[in-house]
Amino acid sequence: MSLPGGVERRQFDGGDEALSTRGEPAYGEPVVDGWRRWDARRSKLGATLELGLHTGLSAGDAVLYLGAANGTTVSHVADFAGPTYAVEFAPRPVRDLVEVAEARDNLVPLLKDARQPETYAHVVESGLDAIVQDVATRGQADVALANRKFLADDGRLVAAIKARSEDVTEAPEDVFERVLDQLREGYEVLATERMEPFHEDHLAVVATPK
Ligand SMILES: C[S@@+](CC[C@H](N)C(=O)[O-])C[C@H]1O[C@@H](n2cnc3c(N)ncnc32)[C@H](O)[C@@H]1O
Repeated sequence: MSLPGGVERRQFDGGDEALSTRGEPAYGEPVVDGWRRWDARRSKLGATLELGLHTGLSAGDAVLYLGAANGTTVSHVADFAGPTYAVEFAPRPVRDLVEVAEARDNLVPLLKDARQPETYAHVVESGLDAIVQDVATRGQADVALANRKFLADDGRLVAAIKARSEDVTEAPEDVFERVLDQLREGYEVLATERMEPFHEDHLAVVATPK
């Protein structure tokens, strides 16, 4: 498995092994010797790493995280990454996200709509190493394409595509094919993997701008 620097497999109470990052606790997760348990069942990016996808993420990366919610996953990202811009459009989870960011100098919470990148283009630097996307909303490919301009030429999109957010009636495989075809308008798709057993009807995607 290729894990970014700063992400380690560690043993937690009960002897189970799990991904972890080192940092301030954020949501009541188990901590051993300063290492915070990163549960793949609670995190699409955690599942992507657990499944062994080569994400290209590295320690110190500049990251744009789309769909940060209350900060569960992005808190782990900020533990190993460099500047981490966290976009979330729902005011309620952003309150928790702001608290998570208080303990992390490199985490910038943004109460913004990821479909309107021009509203945060004055804050987010361009030439980013990675976009991590988990928006669980209709138009997931549109969101990735609209934010592509922030990525360096060799940057990475690491996205979780939720089939039911696109169409609850269509077969997930058909939804994934459609979303991937649309993504290929602006990205070369490097790897995909279904996220079961961690997340039902989700597809992990790693892509790079073309
Ligand atoms: C599945 S949750 C994200 C969970 C989070 N990534 C984690 O692992 O901690 C999806 C989030 O995306 C947010 N979202 C959906 N559409 C969005 C948009 N257009 N702009 C910003 N946030 C959006 C939702 O409000 C929700 O909080």
